[in-house]
Amino acid sequence: MRVLVTGAAGWLGRHLCPMLKAHGHEPVGLDLADGPHVDVRASVCDRSRIHDLFARHTFDAVIHAGALHKPDIARFPARAFVDVNITGTLNLLEEAAAIPGCRFILSSTTSLMISHAIREEQSDQAVWLDESAGPLEPRNIYGVTKLAAEGLCRRHHLEFGLKAIVLRTARFFPEEDDTLKALSGENLKVLEYLYRRASVADMARAHILAMERAYEVGFGLYIVSAPTPFTPANLSALKQDAAGVIRRVFPEVDARFATRNWKLPRSIGRVYDGSRISRELGFEYQTSFARLLDALPDLDPESIGHDPGFKSPSASWTGWEA
Ligand SMILES: NC(=O)c1ccc[n+]([C@@H]2O[C@H](COP(=O)([O-])OP(=O)(O)OC[C@H]3O[C@@H](n4cnc5c(N)ncnc54)[C@H](O)[C@@H]3O)[C@@H](O)[C@H]2O)c1
Repeated sequence: MRVLVTGAAGWLGRHLCPMLKAHGHEPVGLDLADGPHVDVRASVCDRSRIHDLFARHTFDAVIHAGALHKPDIARFPARAFVDVNITGTLNLLEEAAAIPGCRFILSSTTSLMISHAIREEQSDQAVWLDESAGPLEPRNIYGVTKLAAEGLCRRHHLEFGLKAIVLRTARFFPEEDDTLKALSGENLKVLEYLYRRASVADMARAHILAMERAYEVGFGLYIVSAPTPFTPANLSALKQDAAGVIRRVFPEVDARFATRNWKLPRSIGRVYDGSRISRELGFEYQTSFARLLDALPDLDPESIGHDPGFKSPSASWTGWEA
């Protein structure tokens, strides 16, 4: 398939484009920033550039990964999020819907399921988050605009028959967490594979599978987060004594973590359930906490998905260039 990939210079895009080629597809990378997989330097907000691009190519699919996301909140005004994440998505949807048979995959985010109350961990037990979670009350402009973009995808399916799949991806960023500082970067990331992270390679694979299956699905929405070993029965214990729950499931964890001087968390406040995409589309996650634990102590930063030096291309933009 000929596939327009937005955000081709970004962390996901730079993994997705070569993987698409390896699967026999033909990616056309679009980004505002330059990069080895960027064929078109343009903004998704530029309606006429996007129209011209679709007039020049017949795309079989669009994978819309380009966005302003959480780290961008500190750098850009709310209006920029509306322009890029909502208007930019609408520009692409309108073009895709005009091509018979074109599929649309939106990289969305589990972050939009996090209300102020969930973020503040006000409940006395951890929160279980699957595709049925609601009502959704995103706490910041990133979540608000991504939820609107999801709604636009659903609307283009219902009104125009566009085959669209929304992937609510959990964390896969490689840089250090900007708020959680108690654990080292690698220690924290490995733990997150238990409840709120997947590898960037799994994220890229999920996008390709969604694109290949979109025609039979019609409209679909899936969380992508590595398989959690927890169940809703663990929620209270996870809040009170997460380390105890992890030790019960993985009795070898203390010995393995000791090889890296890593620690276990005292409390876990939320768990994303990314199993529906496996049940319904047959997606197989290749990276999980269990596999990473087995590989200790010989785990390199790349297999964890840790790169503290990574900076999103949007961090280097000078001025707002929607
Ligand atoms: N990284 C994560 O942990 C994470 C988690 C959940 C969801 N997501 C979503 O996954 C997608 C990819 O994230 P990423 O980690 O690769 O982010 P990234 O910041 O590395 O890449 C995003 C890319 O989008 C480009 N972009 C931004 N605005 C644009 C515009 N107006 N026109 C064209 N290009 C534009 C940027 O230049 C950048 O290269 C995003 O939609 C993001 O919301 C990411």
